[in-house]
Amino acid sequence: MQDQEFWHNKWAENKIGFHLVDVNPLLPQFWPQVQPTQAQSVLVPLCGKSEDLTWLATQHKSVTGVELSNIAVRSFFAEHLYTPMVTSLSSQHELYQFDELSIYTGDFFTAPLESYDLIYDRAAMIALSPALRVQYVERLKSLIKPKGKILLIALDYDQSEMQGPPFNVSESEICQLYSDMKVTRLHRDEADDKHPKIQNGLSRFAEEVWLIEK
Ligand SMILES: C[S@@+](CC[C@H](N)C(=O)[O-])C[C@H]1O[C@@H](n2cnc3c(N)ncnc32)[C@H](O)[C@@H]1O
Repeated sequence: MQDQEFWHNKWAENKIGFHLVDVNPLLPQFWPQVQPTQAQSVLVPLCGKSEDLTWLATQHKSVTGVELSNIAVRSFFAEHLYTPMVTSLSSQHELYQFDELSIYTGDFFTAPLESYDLIYDRAAMIALSPALRVQYVERLKSLIKPKGKILLIALDYDQSEMQGPPFNVSESEICQLYSDMKVTRLHRDEADDKHPKIQNGLSRFAEEVWLIEK
């Protein structure tokens, strides 16, 4: 699939501008609004080698990531000096486990996942093309437990002004794809004139945090 090759190439060439060296500050700021308990399981789709996995593992007994790239998953464990147990599940998926953390390598759409209480989506939905986003949301809905909640961090800009990824994911798209769930915008951080995206010609650019509840 073309999209998968795109991401494999990004990791192989270390072109990972989306990766943050620290925990995304929006996670500790807004995770309490999910009203999480330690016993609740968390899924982090398209997790990369995010530091957010480590933060979530300090809050929860079971955190599961899914990431296409072996390079990303191996780097995550190597950079933290963790030695995971690695299980080969099929020709396409492996499972890396270390304490509270489990990370599946391979395609999120076919990974042998269970169901989860909470989902954290940072730079996952916005990484996918519009057609894949429809399948992605269907997959998330099939993986979330009754009364489950999703914290989504998305971007809002005029798609005609810049090519994705990251893609614009508008309020109307979120409300339409999650029309059977309660959707609340918790936060909108509007870029000002000094922001590189505005200086590069975008007329607006905002990071938004959404709470999506069953
Ligand atoms: C924009 S990055 C975000 C990574 C991470 N969420 C973060 O905040 O740093 C998107 C990630 O999704 C992964 N990815 C793309 N398509 C995927 C798929 N079908 N299954 C699993 N991972 C995928 C890419 O390899 C990439 O690491």
